[in-house]
Amino acid sequence: MTTRTINLPPTAFSATVRVPGDKSLSHRALICSAMAEGRSEVLGAGPGGDIASTRRVLAALGVELDGASVVSKGVAGWRRPEAVLDCGNSGTTMRLMAGALAAQSFTATLIGDASLNRRPMRRLVPPLEALGARIEVDEDGSPPVTVGGSGPLAGASTSVGIASAQVRSAFELAAVQASGPSEIDSPGGFRDHTERWLEHFGLGRRLTPTRFAVSPGAIPAARYEVPGDPSSAAFVWTLAALRRGSEVTTPDISLNPGRIGFLQIIEGFGAEVEAEVTGTVHGDPVGTVTVRGRGLFGTDVSGELAVAALDELPLVAVLGALGEGVTRVRDARELRSKESDRIVSTVDMIRALGGGAEALEDGFVVIGTGFLDPGEVDSAHDHRIAMAAAVAAAGVDGDVRIQDATIAGISWPGFYEQVEALWS
Ligand code: S3P
Repeated sequence: MTTRTINLPPTAFSATVRVPGDKSLSHRALICSAMAEGRSEVLGAGPGGDIASTRRVLAALGVELDGASVVSKGVAGWRRPEAVLDCGNSGTTMRLMAGALAAQSFTATLIGDASLNRRPMRRLVPPLEALGARIEVDEDGSPPVTVGGSGPLAGASTSVGIASAQVRSAFELAAVQASGPSEIDSPGGFRDHTERWLEHFGLGRRLTPTRFAVSPGAIPAARYEVPGDPSSAAFVWTLAALRRGSEVTTPDISLNPGRIGFLQIIEGFGAEVEAEVTGTVHGDPVGTVTVRGRGLFGTDVSGELAVAALDELPLVAVLGALGEGVTRVRDARELRSKESDRIVSTVDMIRALGGGAEALEDGFVVIGTGFLDPGEVDSAHDHRIAMAAAVAAAGVDGDVRIQDATIAGISWPGFYEQVEALWS
């Protein structure tokens, strides 16, 4: 395991940064292309390990992937895989592929690495079984996930108790293959990328902000231009917000409402934010974001805002520790089932750097002192913790050492070099 040392200058910076292609959209573009018959193009897909996992799984099903090109016989022409399908560290690969595979006449088994093999998969079972699919998970609800072999799916109406885009997408990617119409509802705040694309392709309709109707039909071959990832941009937005006088511009970022809760949060901390929509990708907004540092105060995050900033909450802890006042995050119990238990790993990260943080059942409290101390952070094999610790180094007079630092490559290979280059 590599330990990396980060030491960032105490000065302001000004930069324009192009961040890697959006992870959520890259998974969806590759899977939708693979479900379509013919040749699709996925331009600007994320370069990280999770997207490599989706590519590997699709290739094992007979889909031809070569650079941006995806050629497929369509989902009905996928071949029975010769071995279990390894999703690596990627929960999105496992959950979306479980839905995409649910109507197959063959069975397929999805596994992951040690971290993914501990994550909850039972949440997939009721919505996919409602469609008539066969799906099995381990006794304790974790992977392996075995799907398929049920015969044709029927349309169904379902309601899911958690605001999970992955579960909704799994249902929707199965439901387009059913013999009749379907509907899904859940609490709000989730990223609705899949819904927007299905609606754009004429395969679905939004009934209320959370209720979505799926019409069966073939996803067409298409050209996808994947915008930058707001969950990656959030690291450089935070670096700008942390230092009065800093400014960062990130062009061509996904501005899906379920992705940009963090911008509202950093405004709450006192940063200046400008976001301008410049276009759409199949109905999903894309634009330019500029963040300027103006001093930091504590803030509270709860409800749908916590869902719409879920992957960015470790950064909220860093901002809270380096601001003035108390920061509270609630309604974020889902953090417990991410790549690590992110309530524990976030609190541990702040404490390892001498900050004051307390875990709550569904979130955390951080006491802002305006600075952190040099120290060594265990990434808990979680890319977002490793990267948040590197950002925290901006508030430390000295070194931050990050254990298992290369895990950042799951979403952003070259991240540390990019951060260090902001001041050059
Ligand atoms: C994702 C949805 C979210 C998010 C994950 C990616 C997606 O997970 O945390 O990083 O691409 O659909 P849940 O749907 O499990 O909340």
